[in-house]
Parts: sequence; C-alpha cells; structure tokens
Amino acid sequence: MTATTPPLHAPQLDRTGGTVSENPTTADVALDVRGFRKIYGGKGRTVEAVRDLTFSIGRGELVCIVGPSGAGKTTLLRGIAGLMDLTEGEVLLNGARVSGPPAGMAVVFQEYGRSLYPWMTVRRNVELPLKAKGLGKAERARKVDAALEAVELSDSGEAYPWQLSGGMQQRVAIARAVAYEPSVLLMDEPFAAVDAQTRADLEDLVRSVWERLRVTLLFVTHDIDEAVYLGQRVLVLSNRPTVVLEDVVVDLPVQRDQLETRASARFTELRHHVYLQIQRAKAGHRPEPEEASR
Ligand SMILES: Nc1ncnc2c1ncn2[C@@H]1O[C@H](COP(=O)(O)OP(=O)(O)OP(=O)(O)O)[C@@H](O)[C@H]1O
Ligand SMILES: [Mg+2]
Repeated sequence: MTATTPPLHAPQLDRTGGTVSENPTTADVALDVRGFRKIYGGKGRTVEAVRDLTFSIGRGELVCIVGPSGAGKTTLLRGIAGLMDLTEGEVLLNGARVSGPPAGMAVVFQEYGRSLYPWMTVRRNVELPLKAKGLGKAERARKVDAALEAVELSDSGEAYPWQLSGGMQQRVAIARAVAYEPSVLLMDEPFAAVDAQTRADLEDLVRSVWERLRVTLLFVTHDIDEAVYLGQRVLVLSNRPTVVLEDVVVDLPVQRDQLETRASARFTELRHHVYLQIQRAKAGHRPEPEEASR
C-alpha cells in the first residue's frame, strides 16, 4: 500500500482490521476460493483469464467484487457456481468441493436476457426453481407474488419476458433468485440495464433481502459507489491475468441510506480509495510479492 492511500487495506486471509470478517473460523466460512485459475483454450487462442484468486467469504457476508472489464469476474462466478471446470484450484462451499451447480445457490447472470425462458410467463419463470425445490402450489404462489412485488413487477406476471424492457427482464431474474431464498447468491452486474432510480431501489432491496435471509452474497459490479454502498467488503481485482489486488473492509454502519450513507465522509473516503485501486489495476499494477503471498 502506498502512503497516499488511507488505511483501508485488509490483507488477504488476514482481515484483522475488519469489522465483520475477523478471522472466520472454518465453520464460519461459506465460500472458500483457493488458487482459482482459468485458462480458456481454443484453436490457436488461449487466454489466461484468471491467474490466482484466493479468498474466503464468511457465512452471511455481503462481498462486492470490482475490477477492470475482462478481468475475469464472470469467469469467477461461473467457476463458483460449478458451471465451468477450473484449470487449477478449487472452490469449497461449506467445506465441500464444488463440482457442479450446488443446491441452495442462485445466480443472477450478467446476460439476464438469456437466463429467462421466453416461452414461459414471468410468473412461471420465477416459479420454476420453487418447483424444483419441492414447494407446494400455494406456497409457490405466495413467494412469487412477494418477489414480483419487491421488484415492482406485480402487474407483469402474465407477460412473457420478450414483452418486457431490458430493465424489467433484469428485475424478473432478480425476483427469481430472491423467491428461491438461496443460502448463497451470486449476482453479476445485475443492475446494468436499469435506470438510476430503479437501481437505487434495487440496491436497497438487495440489502434488505440479505439482512432478512442472511444469505451469503457475492455481488459483481463495475460501479464503485455501488460496491461501497452495498458491501461489507470490496475485493478489487487486478487486470488480466487476474489476482486480488486488495480486500477492502467497508466499515460503514449496517443501516445504509441512499442519501445519508452516500453523503458521509467515510463513504467518500472508501469510494476514493477503491477508485484509486481500480485506476492502479487498469494501469497494470499487481500486488507486491509479500501482499500476494498467502
Ligand atoms: N468462453 C470463453 N472462451 C474464451 N475466452 C473467454 C471465454 N469467456 C471469457 N473469456 C475471456 O476471459 C477473460 C475474462 O472474461 P470475463 O467475461 O470473465 O470478464 P469480466 O471481468 O466478467 O468482464 P466484464 O466486466 O466485461 O463483464 C476475457 O479476456 C474474455 O475474453
Ligand atoms: Mg462479466
């Protein structure tokens, strides 16, 4: 860390300065990412998307990930969700190695349009994972209603996804994940297609769902303010081949408010710090060997 940056740095796996994630014991760790490496191979073209990502997330923690475009954020989430083989390393969920899509995990994909079934109404899209979970009809209906209401789509239940705007489709994908009540929720730039006001509302929705369900939440965003507003920690990724540049503890109060939190001095300090880190990442900065050592 340079002298110009405020003391916000929480070294990997040694978050002694953290307000929430102080030395999680093995039992407290929901998600453990160890030596995650991904090289995409193809005819004549190989891309080392991710070099070495190692971090753990405590049960019920809300961690945001920011990093330059192409840094491998989506790759990381696909690996955690068991949708892709790693080149090296492993992902442990509650201590068990992930080798396929784990039960109890929900993902809101960056390409939300492709994740909804066009031949099913909005209601049926949201209901589908609840059927897989084995819930009865009345309970499914209740959860679908509540989730659609939470994303302000109560009027669109009978519409088909292709009849909705991009932002509305994105909200359907969010409703589906929320209704499922997962124990681990992965979100990949879920608010990219919504307007600023809706985005603020959805940020607060995510915080309230997280608080209510105590879900372990990993949230990828390119928006620094959003990462600081939402997260208890922000992992800043380097550019490709990707490693963790910094693990920033967000020591803002639990109760967050779009106006007050964002106007607070600490929020400004944190966003300034993360902004500088992203600039360093884009400029090709990599952690010092001792920072990177584990
Ligand atoms: N299926 C694939 N085959 C080959 N290369 C891939 C594949 N998917 C991703 N890549 C490459 O891996 C790198 C990381 O991609 P990824 O989509 O994970 O980045 P990202 O951080 O999510 O980017 P963005 O912020 O733009 O969403 C990029 O260089 C990309 O071209
Ligand atoms: Mg991506």
